[in-house]
Amino acid sequence: MNRYFLLLFLGILCSCTTKNSRYTNFQPGQIWEDNNGQHINAHGGGILYHNDTYYWYGEHKIEGHKGNTAQVGVHVYSSKDLYNWVDEGIALEVDTLNVASDIARGCIIERPKVIYNQMTNKYIMWFHLELISHGYDAARSGVAISDSPIGPFTYLKSMRPNKGHWPLNVQEFHKKAVADTVKSAYCGGKECLPNHPDSLNLLGRDFEGGQMARDMNLFVDDDGKAYHLYSSEENSTLHIAELSEDYLSHTGNYVRVFPNRYMEAPSIMKTSGGKYYFIGSDCTSWNPNPARSASADHIFGPWTELGNPVIGTEDQKATTFKSQSTYILPVQGKKDAFIFMADRWQPNNAIDGRYIWLPIQFDNDRIILEWKDQWDLTVYN
Ligand code: DGJ
Repeated sequence: MNRYFLLLFLGILCSCTTKNSRYTNFQPGQIWEDNNGQHINAHGGGILYHNDTYYWYGEHKIEGHKGNTAQVGVHVYSSKDLYNWVDEGIALEVDTLNVASDIARGCIIERPKVIYNQMTNKYIMWFHLELISHGYDAARSGVAISDSPIGPFTYLKSMRPNKGHWPLNVQEFHKKAVADTVKSAYCGGKECLPNHPDSLNLLGRDFEGGQMARDMNLFVDDDGKAYHLYSSEENSTLHIAELSEDYLSHTGNYVRVFPNRYMEAPSIMKTSGGKYYFIGSDCTSWNPNPARSASADHIFGPWTELGNPVIGTEDQKATTFKSQSTYILPVQGKKDAFIFMADRWQPNNAIDGRYIWLPIQFDNDRIILEWKDQWDLTVYN
């Protein structure tokens, strides 16, 4: 009898241990369970590494098409090893009481990213915000703050970046008067823009009210300066904008990069040699497309496009493994070890979106992505 209980106890202990550290590798595209056995719910995510812990923030999705809107908020998970994640709950909750709130339930909160500000000892979250019932027209950036990496985050404000500031690489034609037809041409995608975006001067159109900001990311450089990258000018052109010392607003220093290239899903990394690399995507709604890559010696450019980083089958190259980038994760304690993080969206059942994590390889001056059914961090050894 005693022996029976001992075996039962050992069995329970063993299954608990397995559940908490069950993964020893990454399995891109598969269900990825958290410590409670639930598929991780942190889409369009990004990672903060702080005090020996990784924190994964992302869009909490619900079932069905409705899951493409924010019904819950931003979910956060923690991990020591990157394979096994503990559910830390909802870091930023949508406002369920005030329908007039910017972040009222049913708005769109996408691609949340969190960085730690050493000066203020605060955790700062930025995200792409679309106001309730306005589709993707608002194109705003939301900001929230917390004393703890797992929240709760307090919503502070939203804005269109860099109101009243010309980019450092502004061209003279941007400063000319903008036609009334262009002023009302908010249409949210390249299909709506019959002419070359330059001829519409979208930058000039939005000079007074602030620049459009949709797909976004944050990047903190070695000197502690943080940058906000966002798809602007009806998604036609990416902006890289410096944030203030407290990371809560823009300084007005920014550049336009990849003009008229319709880059979405932007992400930046920096190697030990000081080179910046960019991975992004084309602009095709929830449908996957060929990834883009680029490099630069300075964050503000000039940026040189390096083409599609994917090597593999025609389908893998055309669809980036049926996924779209969301973040480039530097692996701690390893030199020049970076993980490409991407989403395999499921817009008809948003909660079922899968995660594609792959190691970034270097080939001379290029970066390369190659499919792996499963892999672990020893690839960097
Ligand atoms: C592609 C973007 O990358 C996603 O974040 C989301 O905004 C979808 N478009 C919406 O169609």
